[in-house]
Amino acid sequence: MANSVSHSPLWGLLQQRATNTPSLKELFRADPQRFTHFSASACGILLDYSKQRIDTTAKLNLLALARQQQVEARRDAMLAGEAINHTENRAVLHTVLRLPKGESFNLKGENIAASVHQVLAQMRSFSDAVREGRWLGYSGKAIRTIVNIGIGGSDLGPQMACIALAPWSQKNLSLHFVSNVDGRHVADALKNADPETTLFVVASKTFSTMETLTNARTAREWMLSHGCPEDSIRQHFVALSTNVEAAKEFGIAPENVFPFWSWAGGRYSMWSAIGLSIALYIGADKFEEMLAGAHEMDLHFAQAPMEQNLPVLMALIGVWNINFLGLQALSIAPYHQRMTRLPAYLQQLEMESNGKSVTREGQRVDYATSPVLFGEAGTNGQHAYFQLLHQGATIIPTDFIVVAEDDSGLPGHNQALLANCFAQSKAMALGKDIQQVRAELGDVSEKLLPHRVFEGNRPSSTLLLDALTPKSLGALIALYEHKVFVQSVIWDINAFDQWGVELGKSLAQQLISLNPDAVKEEYDSSTRGLLQALKRKTPA
Ligand code: F6P
Repeated sequence: MANSVSHSPLWGLLQQRATNTPSLKELFRADPQRFTHFSASACGILLDYSKQRIDTTAKLNLLALARQQQVEARRDAMLAGEAINHTENRAVLHTVLRLPKGESFNLKGENIAASVHQVLAQMRSFSDAVREGRWLGYSGKAIRTIVNIGIGGSDLGPQMACIALAPWSQKNLSLHFVSNVDGRHVADALKNADPETTLFVVASKTFSTMETLTNARTAREWMLSHGCPEDSIRQHFVALSTNVEAAKEFGIAPENVFPFWSWAGGRYSMWSAIGLSIALYIGADKFEEMLAGAHEMDLHFAQAPMEQNLPVLMALIGVWNINFLGLQALSIAPYHQRMTRLPAYLQQLEMESNGKSVTREGQRVDYATSPVLFGEAGTNGQHAYFQLLHQGATIIPTDFIVVAEDDSGLPGHNQALLANCFAQSKAMALGKDIQQVRAELGDVSEKLLPHRVFEGNRPSSTLLLDALTPKSLGALIALYEHKVFVQSVIWDINAFDQWGVELGKSLAQQLISLNPDAVKEEYDSSTRGLLQALKRKTPA
């Protein structure tokens, strides 16, 4: 593919540089000010990328690559509302969802920022009413349990944010997230719920997702089977959707539908009506602080020079690792227990956005794209898969995310947490060579030495947040959103569609009867075999 980014001279230069790149030990030795030279901060977030295997030459060439790929022009096109999601002919405007009140944004002659604030006002008045006990269930009791029914972007964002921001939650409200079509999920959520005081928030951009509709129907049946009258649905169900008509058809009262718009992608939608569960849980003021934090990062992304632009720098580091050093995974290690769902959230954000293998023009790429992303809150991850990060044959870069403020009120814990985080990145970067091991162990069999050696040179970045607040969480998530976008521009792919999930969905519809005799000729012997085996194990 002659016009591929991988055929550009800059790509070649970067490849050459990667083969000669000094080790982290050498890089730190050569530049005592390396931390100062390879760190940047904005919006209360410090990015330390000095433990990445990058030197000044590589950095300059990566910045040149970003310019060659017109990152700034494409960023401006996105922010201006051009239909950059060309396979669906849609603008990509999650940034408008966090514009401050009073600002306007014109899309095809409509001030969509005004519509955003109208829905925010609707969310505020509803969440205030529920939280203050003014929104009553059909029997006159206040709501005590909220069940968010949604999946993917209609689940992960609100869930991740509610767990992260739990200190601001209202004590007398319990919140559950039901996503899986596996009936055990909804059954477990409803086990101790009281239908008279339970509110279902049905979150679905399309209002056609099989899992969500199945769970929502089960929830409705659960209400009715517990003696609630038909019209109790009005007080106990609200919908968050772009498909207002389908929500109404389901039986949800029109005034209980919180709309949003096709230009807000599913995995970019926690800032929209999809965030209602967040507003219910932590209050509308705090929800809006989260939007303000994201907006601050949007401004930074739009205005900061590329050399200091956090999303651009993080994107380029990822491209360097994936495409030039050949390190195609990324581990996310938040050293904060409340960020426990962040890896799952970022998994969708990164892998559903950039898990693509054709360019915008539809040609097959000849380079890797999205990293394979996984993670776990520290220090738990240390006692599970960090062995591989330190000594495995596969090298996996890590994003450490750590918070300076200690709000646990428990002496010693935060100190231990932070010390562990910094120790892990140091160990990965610098390791421990055989001489050090020998000196430490003294008289030990030579055969045992290699097991104790840490070769180091394993790259990581550290993101240090002042505190975990609605505002800083908003900024952090927006940072990753823009990072993913910049990478998509470099890779010349569309980050905003997700055709890859369609085939599985339609095959599931075809197989729904699970009847081996009903499947078509073209079904493979494995699928047939599994259906037959299942039939034998579950006789009617
Ligand atoms: O997994 C595909 C997907 O379309 C995601 O992009 C989306 O977040 C999720 O399904 C849920 O979709 P919806 O909000 O329309 O129910």
